[in-house]
Amino acid sequence: MDCAGVIGYGHMGRMLVKGFLSSGALSPGEVVVASRSRESRDACAAAWPEIDVAETNRELARRCRTIILAVRPQEIREVLREIVPVLDGDEHIVSLAAGVSLGDLEALYPGPVTRVIPTITSTVGQGTTLVCHGQRVGTDDARRVEEVFSSIGDVMPVREEDLAAATLLSSCGPGLLAAIIEELAGATARASGLPPDRALLLATEMVAGTAAYLRETGRVPGDLVGEVATGGGVTEVGVAVLRERLPGVFDGMVAAMLERCGAVGK
Ligand SMILES: NC(=O)c1ccc[n+]([C@@H]2O[C@H](COP(=O)([O-])OP(=O)(O)OC[C@H]3O[C@@H](n4cnc5c(N)ncnc54)[C@H](OP(=O)(O)O)[C@@H]3O)[C@@H](O)[C@H]2O)c1
Repeated sequence: MDCAGVIGYGHMGRMLVKGFLSSGALSPGEVVVASRSRESRDACAAAWPEIDVAETNRELARRCRTIILAVRPQEIREVLREIVPVLDGDEHIVSLAAGVSLGDLEALYPGPVTRVIPTITSTVGQGTTLVCHGQRVGTDDARRVEEVFSSIGDVMPVREEDLAAATLLSSCGPGLLAAIIEELAGATARASGLPPDRALLLATEMVAGTAAYLRETGRVPGDLVGEVATGGGVTEVGVAVLRERLPGVFDGMVAAMLERCGAVGK
């Protein structure tokens, strides 16, 4: 593949560079990185001595055919305004920015643009990266981006109108589930003599095991509830409480998050 550039060596930029290189999806000679601060550029050069670290975003843009923008939503317009004057128009811009639409991107750059929403769990090669291509993206470019991102987990193409809801599950989800693990472990420790660190360990392993069980057996959650929550048993009592109270809690949470999605990047 032609050189892929990553602008922004923050949490996501670091994760992508590490994933692309350590999976072998890209070789060091195929990756160029740029970041605003000298500190981040030096950190990248120290971690990956064989890759090229560009001094400026424009220098990177002149050399790369695929340009991944791993900057925050409020920084995306400034970066695009900076690099667009040196682009030919056939470079493929791939934006990670939540809330910045394909229309917003295409208004700043009249070439092929794709939105990609990664997830923090790609750090361990798990989870789903969402991909949403603009109309100017050809099949080869679309396939190339999907192939590269599949080196860090699953890839799911989605329509832009579904992106906010899908992001809530795939990308915000790890944060939500981590909060649930914390609450479950905390409540168990508070109500018993179980030390909090043991409760947290058990809850975390239980979630990993449950996900693996569902994935590997192909059972849906309702099947698993039926297998564990036997009549008159302990699990049944807990499931009854959750089924009574959680729909209201989750409906409110999802509504608040979707409302916030509409505001991010504006
Ligand atoms: N975190 C997540 O779980 C997640 C999930 C899905 C999508 N995203 C999206 O991914 C993007 C990056 O998020 P993040 O968590 O990686 O943010 P982050 O840690 O703040 O990293 C952003 C990086 O952008 C760099 N930057 C800012 N302005 C720049 C400029 N003008 N030129 C070059 N580099 C610049 C900063 O560089 P310096 O360090 O050099 O100052 C910083 O390292 C966001 O748009 C976010 O919406 C994040």
